[in-house]
Amino acid sequence: MPSHLSTHSRYWAVIPAAGVGSRMGAAVPKQYLMLSGKTVLEHTLSRIARHPLIHGVVVVIAPGDEFFQRLNLPRQKNVLLSLGGAERCHSVLNGLNTLAEHAADDDWVLVHDAARPCIRAEDITRLIEALRDHPAGGLLGLPVADTMKRSDREGNVIATVEREGLWRALTPQMFRLGVLRDALEAALSQGVLVTDEAQAVEAAGHAPRMVEGHGDNIKITRPQDLVLAQLYLQQQECA
Ligand code: CTP
Ligand code: MG
Repeated sequence: MPSHLSTHSRYWAVIPAAGVGSRMGAAVPKQYLMLSGKTVLEHTLSRIARHPLIHGVVVVIAPGDEFFQRLNLPRQKNVLLSLGGAERCHSVLNGLNTLAEHAADDDWVLVHDAARPCIRAEDITRLIEALRDHPAGGLLGLPVADTMKRSDREGNVIATVEREGLWRALTPQMFRLGVLRDALEAALSQGVLVTDEAQAVEAAGHAPRMVEGHGDNIKITRPQDLVLAQLYLQQQECA
């Protein structure tokens, strides 16, 4: 049976949480800011770890992180820790190497930003179901809604970009552990600092599948995003 049709693969998650949050400009990294009563990372971790199809989670924290151990985490299944690197791609690769001690190359791994606390369980399920028989994997995304312009360095419009087929890439991004690890290692060895997992997998010759998610799965980047995330969390609770 081809490996991509194996029915025994497990689903794991890697949560990169080793960034400093420079654009947020807060006193602590943004994943440790409070949002509706708990930290951003606690929201994210509990949504991922509680998903019934996720077998275990690796959280990647910065070397010297003093905050993670102070979190009051409820007993959650299989939460492992790994240490981050200079860029997100280094952190993710470290997390995959930690995961590889427990998981098979054929297992699926969902990489999800710590800074996206509003991820819906239904979107995780949709991603997993859409990619069940896919040889490589794919990612949540949102079709672009606005008219797209390309400008020169001074800001003058030089083109209107055809919107058809354009997506914003979100997370989780879900790939076979072996495929993703090899792809990230290859990208880094060529000096390419990929900004998402799909970019590395694309460069390795695969065509990741886009799976439409929800627009409330925002990445907290700047202070105003915290306000928006709080609204989204409230709205999700009422739904
Ligand atoms: N991340 C990481 N290791 C890094 C850089 C980022 O694990 N070396 C994580 C962040 O903690 C975040 C996710 O990757 O959960 C997405 O990155 P981003 O939104 O860019 O977070 P920061 O790098 O922390 O923020 P900024 O770029 O504003 O400094
Ligand atoms: Mg960053």
